[in-house]
Amino acid sequence: MTESLLPPVIAIDGPSASGKGSVAERVAKHFGFHYLDSGAIYRLLAFAAYKQQVPWSDAKALAEIAARLNIRFESGETYLDNQLVSAEIRTEQMGKGASEVAVHPEVRTALLQTQRNFRKAPGVVGDGRDIGSVIFPDAGLKVFLTAAVETRAKRRYDQLLQRGEAASYEHILQDLQQRDLRDSQRAVAPLKQLPDAILLDTTDKNIEQAVNIIIEAFKKAGQNA
Ligand code: DC
Repeated sequence: MTESLLPPVIAIDGPSASGKGSVAERVAKHFGFHYLDSGAIYRLLAFAAYKQQVPWSDAKALAEIAARLNIRFESGETYLDNQLVSAEIRTEQMGKGASEVAVHPEVRTALLQTQRNFRKAPGVVGDGRDIGSVIFPDAGLKVFLTAAVETRAKRRYDQLLQRGEAASYEHILQDLQQRDLRDSQRAVAPLKQLPDAILLDTTDKNIEQAVNIIIEAFKKAGQNA
């Protein structure tokens, strides 16, 4: 048996609003692992570009911003240039921006090492679209976490209402459908279920059930390694 010297990785990929974030964070907590929220990094880039009035279509300028992005994740909060921006990057507008900046290969290359740096002992749980395919292709466990688009739209809608934000279910549904299409049909690192990933459909499951399935699958993967 050959043992990898690198810390273990659990890769959780899936479409927007599938619950990846909540699930990944809890799995990380369970094992005492680090947590890589890769979507937050794309959101931070979209936000930084927006503040500098750089269009989300300008691949070259975006890659330059990406290369010197000063970000920090601490106690569940997100900082850009030492300023707290957790709420600003969670808006629907920045979700759309993240999906737009993410189509550029130059941007993805510029953010590759930033993401790989999260792989530290005792391990990392990463969530996104290409964690299992590009960022950590040797991950010990790969999960494709998804749910019906209507279920995801409803969850996002309830979340926004809870936060006291105005929301339209129809609008959110349309936006998610567009984002699914853009994220899965782009030329570079598209979202797709890998042949070596387990499929976890949470349409009829709550967060706790999804978390438990991943914890058990990782323990089992470790036994078989
Ligand atoms: O997971 P999220 O909704 O916060 O991600 C926002 C956008 O960022 C998503 O629509 C596509 C992009 N993204 C990506 O291209 N690759 C990742 N690994 C994570 C996110």
